[in-house]
Amino acid sequence: MTVVDPHSYANPEESRVRHIELDLAVSFAERRLKGAVTLELEPAGRRLVLDTRDLTIRRVNGRTDNFRLGEPDPILGAPLEIRLEPGERSVLIEYETSPEASGLQWLEPPQTAGKRHPFLYSQSQAIHARSWIPLQDSPGVRATFSARIHAPAPLKALMAARRVRDGHFHMPLPVPSYLMALAVGDVGFRTLGARCGVWAEPAVLDAAAREFADVEKMVEAAESLYGPYRWGRYDLLVLPPSFPFGGMENPCLTFATPTVIAGDRSLAALISHELAHSWSGNLVTNATWNDFWLNEGFTTYIERRIQEALYGRARSEMEMAVEVGELEEELRRLPEDDQRLVLNLKGRDPDDGMTQVPYVKGALLLRRLEEKHGRPKWDAWVRGYFERFAFQSITTGDFLEELRRGFPGEDVSAWLHEPGLPKDAPRPRYEFGAEPRKDWATQEWLHWLRALPETLPGAKMAELDRQWGFTKTGNSEIAAQWLLMAVRSGYEPAYARLEEFLIQVGRRKFVKPLYGELAKTPEGLRRARRIYEKARPGYHPITRATVDALLK
Ligand code: BES
Ligand code: ZN
Repeated sequence: MTVVDPHSYANPEESRVRHIELDLAVSFAERRLKGAVTLELEPAGRRLVLDTRDLTIRRVNGRTDNFRLGEPDPILGAPLEIRLEPGERSVLIEYETSPEASGLQWLEPPQTAGKRHPFLYSQSQAIHARSWIPLQDSPGVRATFSARIHAPAPLKALMAARRVRDGHFHMPLPVPSYLMALAVGDVGFRTLGARCGVWAEPAVLDAAAREFADVEKMVEAAESLYGPYRWGRYDLLVLPPSFPFGGMENPCLTFATPTVIAGDRSLAALISHELAHSWSGNLVTNATWNDFWLNEGFTTYIERRIQEALYGRARSEMEMAVEVGELEEELRRLPEDDQRLVLNLKGRDPDDGMTQVPYVKGALLLRRLEEKHGRPKWDAWVRGYFERFAFQSITTGDFLEELRRGFPGEDVSAWLHEPGLPKDAPRPRYEFGAEPRKDWATQEWLHWLRALPETLPGAKMAELDRQWGFTKTGNSEIAAQWLLMAVRSGYEPAYARLEEFLIQVGRRKFVKPLYGELAKTPEGLRRARRIYEKARPGYHPITRATVDALLK
């Protein structure tokens, strides 16, 4: 039953981390976390191997002669090998992080909404927890944790855990390392329901509370489909716009981009998605990043079911139609090996696996099974899957075994191992309107814009812009799509907004295609580099790495 994780140096078979005790001070002046972590082990063998990246290790159990930091690998970081004395069942590691830690972003006041205080947040998935905590950084290893965070007043520290009191946190349920999360900033809180609320900078708190008003109902809908929500509270934290993702399912406290605040709740699916991870991912976890589809495919499927429960079938189908369009688009240019659900990411950065394939192809497979076996039987199977594998990390093999127990003879091997979309792939149907209307939802605009010719003459772009105000829109999804078309068409009047957007927003999903499109012509590449010079200092290390590779 040993699963080898190609993205970790850890030796959990010999010595396994079961509980983590953090005590960290936050220094904005030095851009470092400094302090200690205690790791409790069971079993505890003669050797403990941990993952690290760019960490300075001062002492282990008070000594300097019982550990060795190996050579760093550009993707994996460096193994920390600790010699354990007989009977030693825990290690206390004194350490500090580097200002370049890949899993932390240190923001200056101008990069926040309030402009007065700095902000720090972590992003551990996939293998960045090791850049701020020395630990066994594999989704196959789960641990409970307690933490004490010393943050400078008046800033508030938040973690993805229960808040015991200010600066003290506790996570009594075992979680994989990629879900360890910390944020420190000037944030306030608004209650949204019995278990739900939102944290955000004071300047965005009202808008955030309005946008996320349905979140308690989402939790209830998910519970009635898949069983009790096991994490206690479900809160959201709105981050500054440089956050490289749309959302991150940190337990008890989803991290979210401010670009999800569209003003009309039309991007609520993102919250349904992160909430869905409370079952698919946080409760039942992929054992290695090769099985990432188990996390994201199930989550995208459940996202659809929550949206359907709250807003009806038509809205959910519309959203899925847009997602499937994005998958089809991506399949046209993705190498065949990356079109399979089960990946082999050995030797590669696991972030390379983050395409539409695990998300949307994964969700289509589950939808196919739902349609084939009918909702009553299928929903019962999914509920049983979460019960059977709760708090475990599993492989596609475990999924298959459980699938065959429920549906003997079911064969999904083409779905799992072949490139492209199988012939029996469901096609969500939604009749999009042909003529734009002021009251269209975000997804209708996206569908309509994407159906226009690749490039349009300047006069046509100007006419659309006059009519619908695309260049000035505050809706980030529509802005990103419009700016992409502006680059393709060489529509000059949008370039000032393009620059402003790329400097403000660091969400990789928006930033990557825009630089990619610019880089297609020599003049565009020059413009891209000019903008990037100004934008790069504000980007998260993950977004920087992506854009560096595009513009090198
Ligand atoms: N867990 C992912 C984000 C992630 C994946 C971070 C892999 C690092 C590595 C999160 O749940 C997610 O999928 N976010 C999406 C939004 C969602 C609505 C599809 C995103 O950020 O784009
Ligand atoms: Zn996800």
